[in-house]
Parts: sequence; C-alpha cells; structure tokens
Amino acid sequence: MEVNCLKEKLQKFNQDHLLQFWDEISDQEKSALFKDILELDLPEVTSYFSKAMNFLNANTEILDSKIQPIPGDVFESLCTSTPAKLDQYELRGLKEISEGRVAVLLMAGGQGTRLGVNYPKGMYDVGLPSHSTLFHLQALRIRRLQELAEEKFKKWGQIAWYIMTSEATHDTTLTYFEKNDYFGLKKENLKAFKQEMLPCFTFDGKIILDEKNRISKAPDGNGGLYRALKSRGILEDMLTRGINSVHVFSVDNILVKVADPVFIGFCLSRSADCAVKVVPKRSPTEAVGVVCQVEGKYRVVEYSEITLKTAELRNKDGELTFNAGNICNHYFTLDFLFSIGNAHESDLDLHVAKKKVPYINEYGKKIIPTSPNGIKVEKFVFDVFKFAKNFAAWETIRECEFSALKNSDIAGFDCPSTVRKDLLSLQKKWLLDAGALSVNGDVEISPLLSYAGENLKEMANGKNLQGPVVLASHL
Ligand code: UD1
Repeated sequence: MEVNCLKEKLQKFNQDHLLQFWDEISDQEKSALFKDILELDLPEVTSYFSKAMNFLNANTEILDSKIQPIPGDVFESLCTSTPAKLDQYELRGLKEISEGRVAVLLMAGGQGTRLGVNYPKGMYDVGLPSHSTLFHLQALRIRRLQELAEEKFKKWGQIAWYIMTSEATHDTTLTYFEKNDYFGLKKENLKAFKQEMLPCFTFDGKIILDEKNRISKAPDGNGGLYRALKSRGILEDMLTRGINSVHVFSVDNILVKVADPVFIGFCLSRSADCAVKVVPKRSPTEAVGVVCQVEGKYRVVEYSEITLKTAELRNKDGELTFNAGNICNHYFTLDFLFSIGNAHESDLDLHVAKKKVPYINEYGKKIIPTSPNGIKVEKFVFDVFKFAKNFAAWETIRECEFSALKNSDIAGFDCPSTVRKDLLSLQKKWLLDAGALSVNGDVEISPLLSYAGENLKEMANGKNLQGPVVLASHL
C-alpha cells in the first residue's frame, strides 16, 4: 500500500496525525511505522476507544445501586467445611491431576510498573534463604503436586503449564526458563504465548506516538487471555492434551497454590464451568476487587469502582457486606474457555486506565508526562463470569493462600519484605503443626518437600529449627 492510501485510510478514522513526521524520518523508520500502522485493525481499535469510554461513563454512575453480594448457594468456605469434605475435594482434584486433565495458566504479561523492575515480575528474588523467584516456587509446586497425585492414584499425570506473556516480558521469560532448565519440568509441558497489544489513546481518541516512527502500545489487559488462547492455538493444544480443568492465576501471589487440588475438587464436585477463589477483605479500603452480582450477573467490582460508602457496608454480624476479595485465582473448564473464544470474546467489557503515557509532541519532542495524559484500554480476566452457566466461589484463608507482590519496599505493604515474611510465617506454622519444638530465623521449606504443609513430621517433630536454612529433603 502506498503512503497516500494509508493516509486516506487513517483520515477515515481521524488518525492521520500518525504520519505527521513522515517527511522527517529515514527510510528504515518509514518502513517500521508503515508496518506498525498496517498491523492495526483500525475499525476495531478505534471502536474499542469509544466502547471503553462509554463503559467508563456508564459504570461509575450507577454501579453502587445495583451491586449485590454473591448468593450463598454458589459459595463455600474452607473455614466452614468439614475435614472430610476437604479430603473429598482434595482427592477429587488429585485424581484429575493424575489423569493429566489439569493445566495451569499463569498470567504474566503485566508490566510490573508499581514494583519498579524492568524484567518480568516472576523473576523477582524476594530474598528468601533459597533465593527462589516467584516462577521457581511455582515450578516446584507443580512438580510436588504431580508426585502427590501419583502417590495417591498410582498414575502419573502431567500438569501442563501455560504462561501468558506480553511483548515486554516474552523473550526474557523464555530465556529465564531455558537457562534454569525449566526448574526440572519437562520443556514440552511449558508453553509461553503472547497476549496482544493495543494502542494507547489521548483522552480525545487519538492514537499516541511513542516515537516519530512508533505507535505507543500496551498489553490488552489480563482479559486479553481469551483472545490469545484462541489465536495462539493454546485451546487446541489443551484439547489435544485432554485437559479439562484450567487453573488461572496471577504471577504476583507468593502463596499461590498452583493447581490447588482442593479448589479443583470443589469445582468438579459442583460441575462448575467457571469459579473464583476469594478471601475475606482485610478492610473496606483494601485494594482488591470484590466478587459480587450486578443486575443478577456475576462479576468483580474493582477497588477503583466501588464507593467508600458501599465498601464500608456491614452485615448484622459485623462482617463486610462486600467481603469476597478477589485474589485473581480462577477455575475454568476447557469447554467454557472454548465458548468464550468462539462466542463471547468480542463482548467483553473494555476498561479505561488513565496513565502517564510518554509521547512525541507536535514539535517532535519526546515528553514524559507528570500527570495522566492518555488511556490504555484493557480487558479483565474476570469479565467472563457473566457467561458462566454454573458459577461457584470458594473462600479460603488469606494467610495460607494470598500475599501479593505489587510494590517496592518503600510502600510497606504488598512488597518484597511482606511477601517473604508471609511465606516464612506460613511455613513456620506448618513446622510447628508437624511437631517442631521451636522455629527461629528464616526457616524455608522447599515446595519439593511440602506443597501445603504435608510430609514434614520427620523433618520437624521434636526438633529445634534454626534459620537461615532451606529444608529440602529428608536427611
Ligand atoms: C488484580 C485483580 C483484582 C484483584 C487483585 C488481587 C484483575 C483485573 N484485577 O488486580 O481484582 O483483587 O489482582 O491481587 O484481575 N496481567 C497480564 N496482562 C496484562 C495485565 C496484567 O498478564 O495486560 C497479569 C499480571 O501480570 C498479573 C495479573 O494479571 O499477574 C494481575 O494484574 P495486576 O495488574 O497486577 O492486577 P491488580 O490491579 O493487582
């Protein structure tokens, strides 16, 4: 296509400013920009902008009057389940694993801006005695769980691990796993795939130039998952492997029970096609979304969308009315994921994030803004809840399953020192429960030894344990 044709096409969508520096840039830069623009599906991306703005306006006005807590009949809690029920769920989940029907899907395409590192968050070393990163811990949990399922059912089932990356995190993530020999997992059972990128817009809908010859783009949100699963052939791959249950989670939760057999067993026993794991909110203002219903449809209302008045509502027993804190931990059947990819993906809500987006001004100068000047359009992973035929929610214990790495240590919460402390405190409890007389200093347990507190008697019973140390195998 000639540049004049391209210009005409851009004019139709009010985006011809993208060529404003055309005469100033080199031939090589021209071809990069040309390619960048050709790759844009202009009707689609510009409609995304209007749809996202409409959603923003409609959403903030009236959400509070329509929001309801999740009904009791779809909700169960680990705290109120009997040990027998929990065993039953766990066995069901382990069986599914032993049959090779479980996949885990890690969402790791975020840019980790709040943490302030320029590499994927999963590679972050939070300062444990083992110096394990988040990716490393997850890999070892998968290995241990495969063993546990085999011990129970005398059958080896692979847990396939899919990692959604983005342009910014893909290559570094892959190289990291290669360099570390996939942490003992089989290479063929780990697949990384890129989510798509969307252009960033000014508040009046113009696509932003990041350089004279480059469009500013950002990942399409963790709900970009559904499009990428289909377009990158991941759903087909899952089908070929005979997967039924898919556990989806975020990269930042150091306590994540990867492929949690209890959660999977709970979902299977309810024949849920779509489910969420929640924890009680710590306070009305905690920055987590709440799982709820809006006009009878399941969804998550994000912390930025709920008013303080609604967030502070309490039931007669003093519990927060909107207490089901979303920990970004979901269960989907493969059939459900196919139905989203084939029928609903284009109906997903589009959210607006106002951001400081570096740009080239009209004089060709690069500007790093100090206040938000543009928007990123994002899809959210939980926006598929409304398409569920059989939704379920599982409440678990925060101290056992949720501690997220979001910020640098300066913030003092959800940061390296708090996640490290939370993991070590949980593991200390496991050791004391297994009979340790005392646990002092940083005593870390390798996930290869124990996935969730099991298998520690021999190591702990009657012992005084002193850190820093990593308990990795029986001596
Ligand atoms: C998320 C949840 C929020 C929940 C909180 C708990 C969403 C939209 N919000 O919020 O309801 O209470 O976690 O910690 O899920 N990601 C991608 N691609 C992207 C953007 C993000 O893969 O384009 C991944 C991140 O790498 C991360 C996960 O999605 O693993 C969560 O993203 P993040 O931006 O950290 O979500 P929060 O705002 O913390």
